[in-house]
Amino acid sequence: MPRRFQHDLTDKVEFVQVVSVSSLKGGVGKTTVTLGLASAAFAKGLRTLVIDMDPQSDVSSALASRSSHGYSIESVLTNSSSSVVRQAVVPSSWTGPGDVPVHILMGSPTVSVHDKPAPTKQELWKLEEALATIESNYDVVFIDCPPSFNGLTQTAWTAADSVVIIAEPGLFSVTAVHRTLLALQAMRLKMSPRLRTAGVIINRFRPDSPEHTFRLEEMRQLFGDHILEPILDETLTLQQSTGAAIPIHRWPGDQAQSIARYFDRLLLKVLIDTGRP
Ligand SMILES: Nc1ncnc2c1ncn2[C@@H]1O[C@H](COP(=O)(O)OP(=O)(O)OP(=O)(O)O)[C@@H](O)[C@H]1O
Ligand SMILES: [Mg+2]
Repeated sequence: MPRRFQHDLTDKVEFVQVVSVSSLKGGVGKTTVTLGLASAAFAKGLRTLVIDMDPQSDVSSALASRSSHGYSIESVLTNSSSSVVRQAVVPSSWTGPGDVPVHILMGSPTVSVHDKPAPTKQELWKLEEALATIESNYDVVFIDCPPSFNGLTQTAWTAADSVVIIAEPGLFSVTAVHRTLLALQAMRLKMSPRLRTAGVIINRFRPDSPEHTFRLEEMRQLFGDHILEPILDETLTLQQSTGAAIPIHRWPGDQAQSIARYFDRLLLKVLIDTGRP
């Protein structure tokens, strides 16, 4: 059954939506944006799960409050039974009185054994199978991906309803976005016709950089309405809140509140179905 948010998130959520946060380029802000979107979902009281598909496990470091006793995404991709999945998911440190806590499916460096260049279809379905055992507990699931298109990203995309692509305003990002869109098209044909492109979030924009302004304009021309507004500026505040494992919506100061509103708007754009393939 297609899973859709047909509303502005003020209504009841009808189906869980699984969003993969990806780029085929490293260090562009996938983990930072995953946390920003999760923070927006958390602030709205949505039941939120973050899945750490990256062997670097950065999003687990930023969120985890307690151990999953050795169970992780690696265990889940090896054995997607409900009992293993439930042990690999733990409440994150993002919680408090009256909050719906964000949960994290823990990452592990050992998950790299599943990052095969040519995974089988059976391997690609593993995360989808695992999610089927727990997804009714959530409104939204974000998958933080590694910066490559091997087995782990393909497995994430097979389980996802949509992919949000992260890019910096630079020459190599332009080509990386293009490659990611082509990879998505191939994935739709090969594995998952329901997979849609939620859009491209441009991150780390520096308004005082002529190169960034030029590249942003170029990306708008090349990718049109795939580019999601607002554009995220490079800010120390975002680095600080990520480093302190605090949701941006709870970080003090006007700048944090302004970034939080940006993530609110981006969350809406990512979740609402535009009908775009
Ligand atoms: N908008 C931003 N403003 C300031 N710093 C940022 C911003 N976005 C990301 N960063 C910083 O850039 C670095 C890389 O970001 P991040 O880890 O989110 O990228 P990534 O795409 O997940 O990397 P990887 O490919 O290694 O997983 C981090 O130090 C992060 O704090
Ligand atoms: Mg990352």
